[in-house]
Formats: sequence, C-alpha cells, structure tokens
Amino acid sequence: TIDPAATLETTRGCPYAPPKQHLRLLREQPVAKVALPTGGEAWVAARYDDIRTILTDPRFTADRRHPSMPRLAEDTGSGLAESPLPKMMLEMDPPEHGPARRAVVGEFTVRRMAALRPRIQQIVDEHLDAMLDGPKPADLVRALALPVPSLVICELLGVPYADHDFFQIHSAQLLNRRATEDERRHAILELAVYLDKLIKTKEQEPADDLLGRQIAKQREKDGAVDGPALLSLAFLLLIAGHETTANMISLGTYQLLRDPGTLAALRADPAKTVNAVEEMLRYFTIAEFAMVRVTTADVELGGTVIPANSGVFMLANAGNRDPEVFADAQRFDIDRGARNHLAFGYGAHQCLGQNLARVELEIVFETLLRRVPGLRLAVPEEQLAFKEDSTVYGMHELPVTW
Ligand code: HEM
Repeated sequence: TIDPAATLETTRGCPYAPPKQHLRLLREQPVAKVALPTGGEAWVAARYDDIRTILTDPRFTADRRHPSMPRLAEDTGSGLAESPLPKMMLEMDPPEHGPARRAVVGEFTVRRMAALRPRIQQIVDEHLDAMLDGPKPADLVRALALPVPSLVICELLGVPYADHDFFQIHSAQLLNRRATEDERRHAILELAVYLDKLIKTKEQEPADDLLGRQIAKQREKDGAVDGPALLSLAFLLLIAGHETTANMISLGTYQLLRDPGTLAALRADPAKTVNAVEEMLRYFTIAEFAMVRVTTADVELGGTVIPANSGVFMLANAGNRDPEVFADAQRFDIDRGARNHLAFGYGAHQCLGQNLARVELEIVFETLLRRVPGLRLAVPEEQLAFKEDSTVYGMHELPVTW
C-alpha cells in the first residue's frame, strides 16, 4: 500500500508514460492524499470515472485564486495567478462561468474552425518551406511547433501582420521556461500593453475578428466595452492555446518518429490522422496538472471522504490509462478511437479551443508526413530534452533532419 504522506511525483521518467506513482495510485489507491513538492498537501484522483465525476460536481471550485488552491511550484508558469486582470473563465464557477463562456463559444465551432483551415495550412506550409530551405538539423520546436499556434492565435485575435514578429517573440518568451523571472515578467507586460492597445484600436475601427465581434456584442448588450475583461480573454487564449498545441506538435512528431509502423500507416492513409491526433492527446495528456479544483464541502468519492477546502488534482494522464476504459492502455494505437479521453478535461470547463487544436494538429502532421518523407531524429533519443519542469508537459527542443 502507498504511504499517504508520499510526495506527488511530477516528473515522468519515461517520456511517454505517466509518472509510475500515478499508475500505482490508479491501481491501488485511486483517491489519495499526497504531499506537494511545495510543502503543502493535496488530494489526487486517478480513475477515469472519478475524474469525470469531480469535473461535473458543483461542490468543487475552479477558482485558481482560492486560498486552498494547491500549487506544484512557487511559480506556476504564466504569472496569471497573481494577475491584476479580471477573473478568466478558467477560474470561474456558476453562475459566472456560463455567460462568460457562451459569449465566445461561437468563435470555436467546428464550422468556424473549418473556415480557418486554409489559413492554417498556409502558415504550416510557409514554416515548412523555411525549415526545408534552412540548415540541417533543424529544431522542430522553433521551426514549427511554436510559431504555428502563435500565428493561429494572431489570426483569431486579429493581430495585424506587421505585429506578428513582436507577438511571436514575446509570447515565446512568456513560455520559455529557461528565461529568467524578469524576462518572463517583461514579456507579460509587453504583451498586456500590446493587447490593450489592440483592443482600443478595434474599439475605434470595427474589425471582423474575435475581439472585434466581442466589442460589437458588448456594445449592443451593455452599451459599453469591458476592456479589462477582453484583455483577460485575449491573454487566456494566448496562454491556453499556444504552448499546449506547440507541445502536442513536438511530442506527436517525436512519437511518430519512434513508431515506424504508425508512421507508415499514416503515410498510406492520411485520413487516419484524425484518429492519430486523438490517440496522441490521450497518450501524452500534457495538461494534467492544469486540471485542479478545491472542495467547497466534504465530498465522498469511492468510499473516501475529501474534506472541505481541500485541493484536488485530477491525474488525467493516469485516468487516460484506466484499463476500465482503455484496453491495453499503455499501447499507442491510433485505431482505438480515443476521442473520449480526458486530455481536454471534461464538463463545464472542457477545453474551449479543442476543435481548433484538433485542426491545427491534423494539418501539421498530415503536411509534415507528406512533405518531408525522410524526416528523422537528428540526435539519439536519450539526448532529447523533455519539459519536466512545467505544468504542461512537452519538449524543449526536437532536433530533426531529413
Ligand atoms: C481549457 C487542454 C488547446 C483554450 C482547457 C482544459 C484543458 C485544456 C485540460 C480544462 C482545464 C480545467 O478543467 O481546469 C488543452 C490542450 C490543448 C488545448 C491539451 C492542445 C492540444 C487550446 C487552444 C485554445 C484553448 C488552441 C484556444 C485558442 C482553452 C480555454 C479553456 C481551456 C479558453 C478554458 C475553458 C473554460 O474554462 O470554460 N484546455 N487545450 N485550448 N482551453 Fe484548452
């Protein structure tokens, strides 16, 4: 049995498996109390069903500024927990959350995402052109994984072309775990000033993009524009949609390069890319430590009582390997039909950008395999650097050649 005072493991060891402790918890103690690396305590839930139960239970709050909200590190990465900006929808509970989400949900429909496809394809092609024209080996993270989602967010928010470089440089810096605290804070400030100006410009000159439409909607509804709320929204989309997608691009490419059978199957039938993306999302579950809540009452779960005001991490990476739901769960199998995975969360806060992420990933992998037939790792697998130091898992670099 597990020592209840055991410290929560946050590093994976094996780059494509959950921390061993999480799989042990799933088997032996699926609802458990653990010590945190920061010194505090929290609860964890590892089973697929329990995670879905928590994510739909109104006795859990998503308020990231709640005093009992557990932290894995002193610095959570984005600096937004201490942000003076208004609450983001990610941190809201009912009745506040519904209206905030409904105001933008129309921007992320499957139809709107389909309309973005040609532009995403163009962004991917341009970056592959540049990579293929440049020196070998190339770092796929810098050549493709970071710029693609960044430019897609530019497209979404209506950042003018002339500002793309500024936007990309600062948002990459914001996500750069190897930058100093000061450098990161500077990047946040620069982006906040930039986005604030962008919103003010769009207030003057109506624009047919996400921010422009939000401005028009707010004016129609309230007769005024809530600038800070729009800034908060723009920042949330940037934070939630950039590094996540970038990490899935690098990890997904890595997975394909170490799995020649799957690579060949996808080359033979690119239509399978859709299912491959779902399986990659399940297999890596990069945002598991982002799924965190606090109990607002005593809650009984599978025979264990979690007291009120307890922090709870949903170990979705373990949940996505739950044998009750996924047969032979440790195997990467693009034909399993993994769309019911927990990588995008579940319930009211389930990822708003999931359709966008899916489209981006499908286009990237389909194009990469089609256009770069000889793609391979440029260094031995042991030399690859994985992000073990962040709440979102990924790769620091992915040296490739072709
Ligand atoms: C929420 C994962 C891409 C925007 C979430 C949540 C997860 C997640 C797990 C739920 C957090 C919780 O329950 O507390 C991912 C992954 C992505 C991805 C793995 C990429 C593969 C994106 C993109 C966007 C986006 C591209 C938009 C540009 C959001 C927003 C929320 C969210 C706005 C908050 C929704 C709410 O609170 O109602 N995401 N995400 N995400 N995601 Fe994503």
